[in-house]
Amino acid sequence: MKIIVADNYLHLSEIAARIIAEVIKNKPDSVLGLATGSSPLGSYKRLIDAYADGALSFEKVKTVNLDEYVGLDEKNSRSYHYFMNANLLGFVNVKKENIHIPSGIGDTSQNCQRYNEILQAYPRDIQLLGIGRNGHIGFNEPGTPFDSRTHIVDLAEKTINDNARFFDDISQVPRKAITMGIGDIMKAKKILLLASGAKKADAIYKTVCGEVTTDCPASVLQLHSDVALIIDKDAAAKLDERILLAHSA
Ligand code: F6R
Repeated sequence: MKIIVADNYLHLSEIAARIIAEVIKNKPDSVLGLATGSSPLGSYKRLIDAYADGALSFEKVKTVNLDEYVGLDEKNSRSYHYFMNANLLGFVNVKKENIHIPSGIGDTSQNCQRYNEILQAYPRDIQLLGIGRNGHIGFNEPGTPFDSRTHIVDLAEKTINDNARFFDDISQVPRKAITMGIGDIMKAKKILLLASGAKKADAIYKTVCGEVTTDCPASVLQLHSDVALIIDKDAAAKLDERILLAHSA
């Protein structure tokens, strides 16, 4: 596990966007595993800029997202379908048929099965992750088995509270989501986890130094051979110099 400590969120976003752009340049038909939330927003802006400048093409790129709320369709401005369109996919030349986001509407077990088939068909070259304060990755909350595939989850109270900022009222936050499993996440060739802010420091400490346990889903990343944590100073606050040196890129 490599750790890159960025000066701030802007710096973190630049580093992550550069790594993703590199993956696409080396393999134009790359499969990108994408995340929503605040953490990747700055990187997405930079990727849009690189496309607008003619430095990057998404023409052959395929995308596979981590998760979606159950009950929100793609027209709902709080859905992850909408988020991805509004923050990346609507502004680059990715083909519609190459975009994959799990569906949170209709028959949920059929949706899980269909998404597992998609994941099977599109092995990811790189998987982008954020991390919850409770160590969740995707919407795999504490207690999720490490070999899990796409499934429906009951969101943890902490997650509902954290995500309420995207809704008018906490009562509007869906209680369930469909998420790629931890087993699926671990199949990506390369994983980039982004974290910024002091509220992520504890989860980052447990991810790097803690026991590998389902109590902290992100701790499973210790078992992956190509993971980079790109975190700002505040998120790195609980990692001492010795740990940072041992994980330096
Ligand atoms: C988003 C996702 C979540 C978030 C995590 C951090 O697709 O799967 O795991 O990455 O909740 O969210 P932010 O980045 O908003 O702090």
